[in-house]
Amino acid sequence: MGNCCKPPRTKIRSWTQLTSCLVLALSTAVTIADARAAASAPKVVLTNDDGWAVAQIRAQRDALVAAGFNVVLSAPAENESGTGSSTATPVTLKQPCEFNTCPTGSPAEGFNASDTRLNYVNSFPVDAVRFGIQTLAPKFFGSAPDFVVSGPNVGTNLGTVTQNSGTVGAACEAAKEGIPSVAFSASSLSQVSYTTLTSAPTSPGTRSALIYATLTTNLTSILLGTNHVANPILPAGITLNVNFGRTTFSSSGVPSGDCAAAGDFQWVFTRILPAGAGTKDVQTCGSTVLPDERTVVDAGCFASVSVMDASTKADVDAATQGVVLQRLAPSGLLSCFDG
Ligand SMILES: *[C@@H]1O[C@H](CO)[C@@H](O)[C@H](O)[C@H]1NC(C)=O
Ligand SMILES: *[C@@H]1O[C@H](CO)[C@@H](O)[C@H](O)[C@H]1NC(C)=O
Ligand SMILES: *[C@@H]1O[C@H](CO)[C@@H](O)[C@H](O)[C@H]1NC(C)=O
Repeated sequence: MGNCCKPPRTKIRSWTQLTSCLVLALSTAVTIADARAAASAPKVVLTNDDGWAVAQIRAQRDALVAAGFNVVLSAPAENESGTGSSTATPVTLKQPCEFNTCPTGSPAEGFNASDTRLNYVNSFPVDAVRFGIQTLAPKFFGSAPDFVVSGPNVGTNLGTVTQNSGTVGAACEAAKEGIPSVAFSASSLSQVSYTTLTSAPTSPGTRSALIYATLTTNLTSILLGTNHVANPILPAGITLNVNFGRTTFSSSGVPSGDCAAAGDFQWVFTRILPAGAGTKDVQTCGSTVLPDERTVVDAGCFASVSVMDASTKADVDAATQGVVLQRLAPSGLLSCFDG
């Protein structure tokens, strides 16, 4: 703070001096308010299984930061798609990171020197999220993270496929460590470098990545609140398995159908596997049987939200579904699915 705002020994001599004093005091107050907001901004570890340098995870990072979240990215150095809950000790790179984003011989864990919140781990998704929670969060947040966003994955993870998904594996690992999490996966994506976001900004892939990043941020905001953290965010021992349907763009990126903006998506509360005979889910939309996520996502411009047991990766009981439904209900996010 400048001398002019200390208790004045000399009198303020002019309007100019008084005004500049007030402006300084005001801007100091604003800076303190900003710092408080940043300190209380929800702390998020972002991970995936497609690798730290794919377009989707960078679009997601940018969207979460733009929405005011405090984000650290910790993801595999390479494509680790389909590795489920595999785990191993990270090792020195025997080949370059994906898309040549680090050279052979780089350390087992590394970061972008000019943006140290972008981190890779040369191992499986479970190991990457563990590093994010146990090492990076204390370093950058001074505490555990509030939440883990895993994905969106390149390609859906529906029904039995969830068992093999690294994106789901990482989300389950977070929940098992006591950090609320959601696994997100999406249809209209490909494993391309983050540089395509700027080199091909109007391509269908980039447009889709931005839409899925917005949708992921929307659900994250609803679960966490902004500038404060809801408590509890989700029940212990579960994660959410969220899938986004196809977007509709022509090959040149022109909207060509009913699913070309985030606002076009309808969110539906679902189950992972189709209900067996006698299954009783939470009652909603006039039924005690939830639609299964594959049926919903295959039907068009939908986002499915299933509650998953973080240990078994299976559906949970009606009571647990009910707790999550109650968390989401006030937002008005969810719609009923009528086939
Ligand atoms: C990433 O790994 C998966 C599973 O092995 C494979 O299907 C996919 O083609 C890989 N992606 C790229 C871009 O190589
Ligand atoms: C590292 O960060 C810089 C500055 O934001 C960016 O230009 C560069 O593309 C990033 N590289 C990687 C691999 O993240
Ligand atoms: C979703 O996110 C976008 C961009 O942050 C925002 O404009 C929109 O209002 C959000 N929608 C909901 C339902 O939160």
